[in-house]
Amino acid sequence: MTRETWATRLGFILAAVGSAVGLGNVWRFPWMTAQNGGSAFLLIYLAIVILVGVPGLLGEFVIGRRAKRNPVGALRDLSGSRGWALVGALGVATATVLLSFYSVVGGWILRYFLESLYGFVGTAPYAGEPGAHFSAISFGPEAVAFHLVFLGLTAAIVVSGVRRGIELGTKLMMPAIVVLLAGLAVWAGTQDGALAGYEFFLSFDASTVRANWLDLLAPAAGQALFTLSLGAGTMLVYASYLGEDQSLPADATTIAVLNTAVGVLAGLVVFPLLFSLGVEPGSGGPGALFVGLAGAFATLPAGALIGTLFFGVVLLAALSSAISILEIPVAFLVDEFALSRRTAVGAVSGVIALGGVANALQSSLFGFIAGQVVDTLLTLGLLLFLLFVGWQLGPVAVEEFRKGAGATTARLATTWRYFVGTVIPVFLAFTLLTGLGLDGMIGRWAVVAVAVAVTVVAAAVFNRSRTAA
Ligand code: TRP
Repeated sequence: MTRETWATRLGFILAAVGSAVGLGNVWRFPWMTAQNGGSAFLLIYLAIVILVGVPGLLGEFVIGRRAKRNPVGALRDLSGSRGWALVGALGVATATVLLSFYSVVGGWILRYFLESLYGFVGTAPYAGEPGAHFSAISFGPEAVAFHLVFLGLTAAIVVSGVRRGIELGTKLMMPAIVVLLAGLAVWAGTQDGALAGYEFFLSFDASTVRANWLDLLAPAAGQALFTLSLGAGTMLVYASYLGEDQSLPADATTIAVLNTAVGVLAGLVVFPLLFSLGVEPGSGGPGALFVGLAGAFATLPAGALIGTLFFGVVLLAALSSAISILEIPVAFLVDEFALSRRTAVGAVSGVIALGGVANALQSSLFGFIAGQVVDTLLTLGLLLFLLFVGWQLGPVAVEEFRKGAGATTARLATTWRYFVGTVIPVFLAFTLLTGLGLDGMIGRWAVVAVAVAVTVVAAAVFNRSRTAA
């Protein structure tokens, strides 16, 4: 059986952008920005996207295109070692955990979309008391039902395959998302009080950055990885369906730029609306989007229409990301056990359906998984992928980076290899350990020392295992 490939270069880029643009941009990004004080967070996040995100994307792309396999098979085949297969397995496991909470949020979105739509004929159920409504529906049997429907939609696209499912689906969804979001941003700007929203989001106060930039590193890094779909192997798997002629560096840059643009666009919709209604964006936690915006849509003229468009956009964005998460374990089963795509999708969806049920019933479990567990797993995953690229692949990664790239870009290959093998792992190990609270125990500079030590030891070990092979 020959492995499927993307029909076009644009198809791959749109699929990858579709993966990146999702709840991370519209739901998690405004929430994190608000929680961490607005524009200072935005600035640090942007720096991490450029310095860690783009080279990190390239790392996953290089592995995937070189091996033309799922994360487990890719790391095993390229290294000839079972140990590295475990790192791939971590990615497959992370994806399964990730989708089991993502699908619950997807279910909420689906519900709000339908409720807004219903607002045309009746009154949107959230109109009276948006806060109470969200509390009533977010966890419990109804959340389970909507999660299962959202997961079903996701599975329906993935089962249709790389070209006829993922590529076609994202080709239809992405333009719709951008056009609708731009329209909504213009409309949001006409609301009273929008200016306060822009100010919160975009005004830049250098003194707050200087005061607490170290505290912002871990959450900003977590958000950057999440929004670029890094650390679980989504981008690795998508690149495994590529031919040899494309410039990976060019594609990685395009994807990061488009994803950031959509994130900022979403902020230009969300913040003016929240401020025009006097909703304090940091206070609402994960429910802010649902409570604040549902409140807005219930009181504004033409609110039902705007609400339907908004939740429709978010639903498309969530779906085009969810398919990319589901594709990781599906590719694993198809590649490694020669299962049919249909059987693989069925098996994986069954497991995720159960995990999602647990998340949809237990808000404390959900909060733990959506926050710390996912941040930790993604950071660890990307750290290991990049150590693999820098030291286990080494010159092979450099060669793969250069394939299809222009002459100027190709010259950056070696610099990139050492950057993803040294600076980025130190940074990721630092945020990983800080996220786990180690800085509270041994102090920040000791964590830096540990991060450097871990990277140096790993580099030496993997560098040797390569030369031995
Ligand atoms: N990036 C997506 C979002 O912002 C979520 C996502 C898709 C993801 N695939 C991933 C996150 C892989 C981490 C790893 O909504």
